[in-house]
Amino acid sequence: MRSVIDILDLSTQEIDELIATAIDIIENPDAYSRKCEGKKLATLFFEPSTRTRLSFEAAMYELGGHVLSVTGAGGSSVSKGESIADTARTVNCYADIIALRHPQEGAALVAAQSVPIPVINAGDGGHCHPTQTLADLLTIHREKGSFDHLTVGVCGDLKFGRTVHSLIGALSRYQDVKFVMISPEELKVPGYVTAALKDRNIPYTETTSLEEALPSLDILYMTRIQRERFDDPALYEALKDSYILTPNKMKLAKQDMCVMHPLPRVNEISVAVDSDPRACYFKQVRNGKYMRMALILKLLREPFAAKPQPELFHHLHCRNPRCITRTEQELRPSFFLTGGKTAPVYRCIYCEHRARE
Ligand code: NCD
Repeated sequence: MRSVIDILDLSTQEIDELIATAIDIIENPDAYSRKCEGKKLATLFFEPSTRTRLSFEAAMYELGGHVLSVTGAGGSSVSKGESIADTARTVNCYADIIALRHPQEGAALVAAQSVPIPVINAGDGGHCHPTQTLADLLTIHREKGSFDHLTVGVCGDLKFGRTVHSLIGALSRYQDVKFVMISPEELKVPGYVTAALKDRNIPYTETTSLEEALPSLDILYMTRIQRERFDDPALYEALKDSYILTPNKMKLAKQDMCVMHPLPRVNEISVAVDSDPRACYFKQVRNGKYMRMALILKLLREPFAAKPQPELFHHLHCRNPRCITRTEQELRPSFFLTGGKTAPVYRCIYCEHRARE
C-alpha cells in the first residue's frame, strides 16, 4: 500500500483524479455514503488541530466508515516514551488507514515505513502538509479553472509554514507558474524549497513588502506566524504582526485575486476582509473535507505501485534539530543526493534538510 507523506507522492494525473472525485462527491454525496463501510481510520494528532482532524473524521463518517482517535501526546503511550514506529505498529492492529500529525519533521515517513497500511501525513512539524495542499488545489481549481499561468504570492512564516512548502511543490509542476515569497528576513523559505525551484528553473522572487507584491498576484496565500515554532519568544513578539491584510491593502490587488489561508488566522487577515468576494479561506475549509474523502477512498481501494526510491547514503547526520532522526532510536539516518553533479548536496529523506558531513 502506498502512503501520502509529501504532495509529490501524488502525480498531477492523480491530483486531477482526486479533484474529479471530490467534485462528484459534492454533487452526489449519497453515492459515497457507504463506500468505506467496515473500514476504520485512525487519527493520531500529537499537535493541536481543529480543521485537519475534524475534516478527516467527518470525511470518514461521510464515507460510512469509523474513526479511532488519539489527540495530544498526553493521551497516548507517546507520553511514556513510545516511539513513532511502535505507535504506528500498534495502531496497524486496529485500523485500516492512519492520518498522523506530529511536531517532528519526518514523523509521518517513519510511521509509513513501519506499517503495511496507508499513512497520510497530516502535518509533520514545519515540513509538509500535503492534505492542506489538496484542499488548496481544489479551491484554486474551482476559483480559477486551471493551475497554469498563475502568479502565486505566499506571505508570512515561510520558514516553518508547512502548508506553503507543500503548496509550492504542488504548483511548481504546472505551466508558467511564478512564486512571490513575502516574508521577514528571519522567516524565508527553507533551502530545500528554493533548491527544488532552482533545479527546475521555476521563477521566484523574495521580498519583504506585501504592498509591492500585491498588484501582480493571482493568488495571495497568507499564513500565520507560528508562535509554537519559535525558540526565542522575543523574536516571535517582534515578527508576529509583520503582515496584516486589510480592505485598504486589498485595493492594490487584482479584481479576481484569490485570498487564501490554511487557518487558523490570528491577526494576519483583518476580519473586515472576510466579506470581500476575493476571500476564499472558508471555502478551503469545506473543500478540505471533500479532498480528504477522495484521498481516503483512493488509498483504501487502489493498490499503488511503490514510488521509485533514490539511492540512499547512510554515512552522514541530519543537522535539523527538529528532525525525527534525533529521537527515534531504531532509525537509520538516510540521505539522498540532489543538486546534480555541479553542486551535489546530501539531504535527509525525513526532513529534507542538508546533512552535516
Ligand atoms: C495549518 C497547519 O497546521 O499547518 N493549519 C491547518 O492545518 N489548516 C496552519 C497553521 O497552523 O498555521
